[in-house]
Amino acid sequence: MSGMQAPSTATLAQAASAPSEAPLLRLDALSRHFGGLKVLQDVNLAIPRGGIFGLIGPNGAGKTTVFNLITGLLQPTDGRIEFEGRSLAGRAPHQITRMGIARTFQNIRLFKEMSLLENVIVGLHAKLGYRAHDLIAGTPRFRSEERAARERARELLSWVRLDHKLSDRADNLSYGDQRKLELARALASDPKLLLLDEPVAGMNSGEKEELMAEVRQISARGYTIFMIEHDMRFVMGLCQDIAVLNFGRIIARGSPEAIRSDPQVIEAYLGREDDDAADDPAHGASA
Ligand SMILES: Nc1ncnc2c1ncn2[C@@H]1O[C@H](COP(=O)(O)OP(=O)(O)OP(=O)(O)O)[C@@H](O)[C@H]1O
Ligand SMILES: [Mg+2]
Repeated sequence: MSGMQAPSTATLAQAASAPSEAPLLRLDALSRHFGGLKVLQDVNLAIPRGGIFGLIGPNGAGKTTVFNLITGLLQPTDGRIEFEGRSLAGRAPHQITRMGIARTFQNIRLFKEMSLLENVIVGLHAKLGYRAHDLIAGTPRFRSEERAARERARELLSWVRLDHKLSDRADNLSYGDQRKLELARALASDPKLLLLDEPVAGMNSGEKEELMAEVRQISARGYTIFMIEHDMRFVMGLCQDIAVLNFGRIIARGSPEAIRSDPQVIEAYLGREDDDAADDPAHGASA
């Protein structure tokens, strides 16, 4: 043996728990069953702050269920979710939003009869927390906050290049632009973690290219992004780190290159599902 000493177990444990290395989000032995259906089983996943993280896997693998658990729409059957070291157990969706997690939905959810600006302002209101009195009386405080909200909404819409359509009704937008509007609205809560559920489903290739550049810019502004996506070109082009879910279990995690060449992943997913099938807009209606 050489004279060099291996670090003691205690030193290693200290390094692992150093604050700089604490993950932003941690799923710990997470399971969710629906009756006898074991949709998620013992999912362990730690997502560091910063960067763009991807979750892929076949239809029905349990991907959207992961987001529903993180955002408090569902409670786990077993296991824990921690955000910035705090447990999310028992917290309501609006409390989780306030802690700094925002999402978009696989099935777009917008106020269809409202304008783009109004849709994003609604997202901002969740954060501003007006008192009813201010709202009804139109007090100076309310008016100045409302002005600031409009400015912020305009800015967020410019991040997805929709600021030339501020007064258009949401339901007049193309499918791709509706997805972008939902993204701008999610950003309105000023999240630390942004969850995107199939952001390019139903988009044409030009729209996908545009969104790719916009997501990169949003990431560069300091938001941590966690996306579910079937479009391999999009997800492999954006994510440094990808996990693969199959029948409710994580079967692989790593760089795009490692995922692409993983025999288990090819067998379970990549080998039998091409991008074209996954691009079918009808697919988005499934969850
Ligand atoms: N609330 C629920 N009640 C009962 N079963 C559910 C519920 N939510 C999801 N499931 C079932 O859990 C499984 C996983 O669904 P989930 O939506 O998480 O899959 P997914 O990986 O997002 O699939 P896709 O790629 O098609 O969107 C499916 O079999 C689905 O029917
Ligand atoms: Mg889904």
